Amino acid sequence: MALWSSRFSTPMAPATLSYSETTDIDRRMLAHELWASLAHLLMLCACGILDEGRGREIAAELLRMMDQAEHGDFKLDPALEDVHLNVESRLIERLGLDIGGRLHMGRSRNDQVVTDSRLYVRDALLAIGRLLIGLVSALLDRAEEQAGTLTLGYTHSQAAQPITFGFWLSAHASALLRDLKRLSDALETVNLCPLGSGALAGTSFPIDRRLTCALLGFDDILRHALDATSTRDYMLETASVCATCMAQLSRLAEEIVVWSSSATSGLKVSDAYTTGSSIMPQKRNPVVAELARAKSATAFGALMEILSVTKSVTMGYSSDLQQDKPPIWRALDVTSETIGAFTGLIATLEFETKNAEDACWRSFATATELANYLTSTQQRPFREAYDLVGRLVRHLESHAMTFRDANVSVAWLAANGVKMPLEEFVSSVDPRRAVERQTSTGGTSPEEVRATIVALRDQLGRNEARLTDVARRSELALAKTRNLATSFLKSELSGVELSREILAS
Ligand code: ARG
Repeated sequence: MALWSSRFSTPMAPATLSYSETTDIDRRMLAHELWASLAHLLMLCACGILDEGRGREIAAELLRMMDQAEHGDFKLDPALEDVHLNVESRLIERLGLDIGGRLHMGRSRNDQVVTDSRLYVRDALLAIGRLLIGLVSALLDRAEEQAGTLTLGYTHSQAAQPITFGFWLSAHASALLRDLKRLSDALETVNLCPLGSGALAGTSFPIDRRLTCALLGFDDILRHALDATSTRDYMLETASVCATCMAQLSRLAEEIVVWSSSATSGLKVSDAYTTGSSIMPQKRNPVVAELARAKSATAFGALMEILSVTKSVTMGYSSDLQQDKPPIWRALDVTSETIGAFTGLIATLEFETKNAEDACWRSFATATELANYLTSTQQRPFREAYDLVGRLVRHLESHAMTFRDANVSVAWLAANGVKMPLEEFVSSVDPRRAVERQTSTGGTSPEEVRATIVALRDQLGRNEARLTDVARRSELALAKTRNLATSFLKSELSGVELSREILAS
């Protein structure tokens, strides 16, 4: 019999229960539901809303349930609809209605569910943040190691200018660092306390929302009760962080798939991150990167799903809102597993540079450098030098030659009114030397890449400190809730003392 069944004359159809129950989805929030219930209980006792005797019995039972949940001994019963009614029903079953039936004063499933899911999402974002820090560190470590490894850079997917693998790896670190910052920003939106909003309108019980907020380690209360119970923008922001990060990883995946497919690209995915073919014995397929490219769709879909679920929900809880959780769980799962797999893939990626120089010569990748040289040493307008080099490239290409044919090139330049010593020509078109000269801030020269890595590591450190702070406060708050509940049930603390202890930092 459902806890709410007194006003109903006909029992719920089996289809109604199976269509609406969320125990399988809510399972992930059991620990958070118990923590929030304990915080609510301590607040009720601290405010004198619930007597200390009954409060102590409920505290003992909730602590027991926390242990059971940690040991996997708390299975949710689908007949009880959701995690909230499972916990309350168990309390009543164990303690009787006169005790267990008093916890629900001044709260509603509408403020419980947003409290639990904010706590869950906070944990999940912190876990993803830690993984992302690992991936960015791996990219920066490899970038430092490969700061001088020549490769060919592309624009429009066409050969463009020589760069280094260190430059390419640190570009992804630079982009992913912004995902880390977006994650920290989303945490600020998530980390607000809706508990105490009741169903929609607050409550007439003299509750103190500051107490539950402090016990749950939130930054502040989410003051407006109607907004707090009806709005899911924290889910949207979280899904958007996942989608943006997965879009970046998908781009990295695309490069890995494409570049590892040609013998000349210089990228090799370790055996550990490839699989073989059932028929072609020679194959090594970069499945992790291929799947990451496709699994980004899961995160994009989740964002669209939550937007669609919430766009027509008027102020005041509607059941539509319970459909926010399946997509956000999927987005969080796919993002964390992808970041985890990529960290190993990047750490073991192999770089081969022997074909890179050839590719640079064949594609005239240093043509810009030659134009720069003619501009800066001969006071020509850049556009004139550009035009001249363009004609030289056309000439060499039509004779199946490259800038490697330095004598021919210098003779062609002389015939076109440009005097250039042979050794200066050779130096200006040499791919390795060209890379070394890109020393502008953020450029590809090994020296500048190393300086950029230092700056990025600094940013990484600051983001890490921000996340560590939220994680530490959350852990301390959980420990404090358990410790205060334990002291309270042993009668070491009265209700009034509880209130003081909760607010003491
Ligand atoms: N399972 C619900 C959800 O996930 C919990 C809130 C239900 N509230 C209600 N009045 N039925 O949103």
